[in-house]
Formats: sequence, structure tokens, C-alpha cells
Amino acid sequence: MARITEVRCIRTRANGTWVIVKVLTDQPGLYGIGSASDHYHATTVMHLIENAVGPRLIGRDASRIEDTWQSIFTSGYWRNSSLLNTALGAIDVALWDIKGKEAGMPIYQLLGGPCRPAVPCYAHAVGDDLPSLEDDVRRYMEEGYPVIRCQLGPYGGGGFVEPNRVSRPRNAWPQERIFDDEAYLENIPRMFAYLRERIGFGVKLTHDVHEHLRPQVAVALAKLLEPYRLFFLEDALPPEQIAYFRLIRQQCTTPQAMGELFVNPHEWLPVIQERLIDFIRCRVSKVGGITQAQKIAHLCEWYGVQTAWQEGGDNDPVNQAAAMHLDLASWNFGIQEENHFRPEELEVFPGHAVLEHGYLYPNDRPGLGVDIDEEKARQLLQPDLARRVFSMAEDRRADGTVVRP
Ligand code: CO
Repeated sequence: MARITEVRCIRTRANGTWVIVKVLTDQPGLYGIGSASDHYHATTVMHLIENAVGPRLIGRDASRIEDTWQSIFTSGYWRNSSLLNTALGAIDVALWDIKGKEAGMPIYQLLGGPCRPAVPCYAHAVGDDLPSLEDDVRRYMEEGYPVIRCQLGPYGGGGFVEPNRVSRPRNAWPQERIFDDEAYLENIPRMFAYLRERIGFGVKLTHDVHEHLRPQVAVALAKLLEPYRLFFLEDALPPEQIAYFRLIRQQCTTPQAMGELFVNPHEWLPVIQERLIDFIRCRVSKVGGITQAQKIAHLCEWYGVQTAWQEGGDNDPVNQAAAMHLDLASWNFGIQEENHFRPEELEVFPGHAVLEHGYLYPNDRPGLGVDIDEEKARQLLQPDLARRVFSMAEDRRADGTVVRP
């Protein structure tokens, strides 16, 4: 039996936004790693793990994954916070890593064995105008991606207008760009009309609203996009407005993907049980790791909902590996969001998953299959960049009101 002797965090990426937890045991060389990355609160999560959650685990039996999960879940009495979930998720994945190493098997074998040889991924095509977006979509088609997400520039792109071209108060706050729901409703269906006319219906396309719209505009958008037969529409609504998915369902057949901001079972339960979404999009680390994500996947199976774990942007190769093990072992897997890393970033993580022509390939090493080179992790981190404060882009409507991202 392995007992936990130490829980510590390793901060890396040039800007310090990746936090990897290492759980060490009293067995020589036996340890596990998990992702505790939070782009906006890296040092807060580290403090939580090293000063509150971690010390409670010293001396515990590392094999008790479910029991440890339940124990951390209620350790602060208040639960389902995104930051506690992140700490919990990192430790959970590290314990799965340890169990896999003890068993001599990759985690996907412990979860039931692979349902597929590799993991199909969706690409992020983007263009500031329609011709450049079409070029990007074609580039990913040629590369072999089975599904391609289409965006007009940054999140909310298609809905941005110049401040001097809309009605604003004379004491308007300074803003570089204005988000306008009606402009979005005009431009995104036009974008798909353009793409479908040029590349046909054979390629599977998605779009990410990133929760920008007023709820009723989101319902209208889903309905207007119906003729273009999307693979899914992502984050049409913010988590606070999920009841509007009922209206979307009543109005159209556009498939819905939702959940990257979900942290609480009361967010995902109704949309799964009422079959209001088609793809669940939680981030594995933000719901509490492999243990919780596997329960969500199993629940979804019986309601005909598929998985599409969130993985883009600020995610790290360790969380990507955790999602990949679930992708391989879940029958109701749908698609995996891709993520690109720089060569010097991948060097920090020997054994990382390999993304090739739109498919993610695992290795057959025991456990998570990916490790961390602590010396290279230290070299990658640039302390000056890591002192910066990160926050979401603050988009506003013409009257100054903040748009929920
Ligand atoms: Co998204």
C-alpha cells in the first residue's frame, strides 16, 4: 500500500498559468501528477492546495480515489466552487496516475478499456473576414480534422461594431469596440451560408457563441442556423440562463454543446435529464477530475448525450491527457476539442499525447502516460510575465453594460 507523503505544485508556462500538482508516496519513485491550472487564479489555487487541501492528505492511502474525492469535496463545508474543484480535480487525476502505475496499465484501461484507437478532435478555424475564414477551414480539412469550429475573429466576433457607428450616450465610457446582439444575429448565419455554399455540407462545422448573447437572441440564432446543419452550436447561453435551452429545443434541431463553465451538478443535471443538450462540454479539471467526469459521462450515456470535454486555449498537456483517457474509454464520446502547444512547452511533459492530422494518440505507458520535467518547467517560467494579472476580455454593449463572456 502506498501512502501519500507530499503534495506540491509546480508552476510553469512562460506566463505562469499552468500549475501541475505532484502527489508523492512512500513507495520509491511512485508519484502521480494532475492539472490544477486556472488561467486567472494560478497562485490562489496553489495556495489552496499547498496550505489547505494537500496537508490533510499526508499519510493517507493513495489507492482510495473515490474516498479521497468525497473527503476533499466536503472539506471546506461549502462546495462546488471552481477553485476547490480545480484543486480536487488535480489531486484526483494524480491518484489515478498512481493507480495506473501500480497496476502497470494506462488509465483508459482502468476505466474499461479503449472504445476507439485514437481520439478525433475539432479544430479552431478563424478569420477576420469570410474569405480568410474559408481558407482556414480548408487548411484544417486538408490536414484531416473531422470537425471544424468556425469563428469570425475573437469570441463575439461578428457582433462587434465601431463605437462611432452606433447610438451611444454623450457621456459614453471609452470603448474600443461595442458588442451588438443584432449584428451577431445578422453576421453568423451569413457566415455559415457563405461557408456551406463554397465547401458544401460534407464537412462537420461548429460555432462557439461563448455566452455573449441575450437569451432570446441565442434562441433566434439557433433557429436561424438550422438550415446549415451544424455539428453543434457551443455555449449559446451562459450557465445562469440554461432554462432557455427548453425554448431552443422547441424551436429547432440545431445540436447544442454546453458546459465548459459548469462546476455544480445542479448545472449539468437538468440539461442532461431533460435532453436539452447533445454534447456535454465540462473541463475535466473544473468538475473535479476523472472521477467526477466519468460519472458525468456515464449519466450522459443513458440520456443520449455525448462528451466533448473542453480543452482549448489555456489548458495544459496534463489536463489534455486526463480528457483523452476518458475519450478513449467512454462509449458516448463525441469529439475532443484540440489544443496546440509550443515545442518548448511539450518538452516539459515527456509522454504527452500526440496530435496528428486531427487525431490525438495516447501511449501505452502506465498511468496518465505523461510526466513533468521539473527542471525544464522551471526554465520555461518567466517570473516577470508570471506576475501579470489575467482576466477575461471585458466586452460591453453600446450603453456600457458588461457582456457576460
Ligand atoms: Co467554448
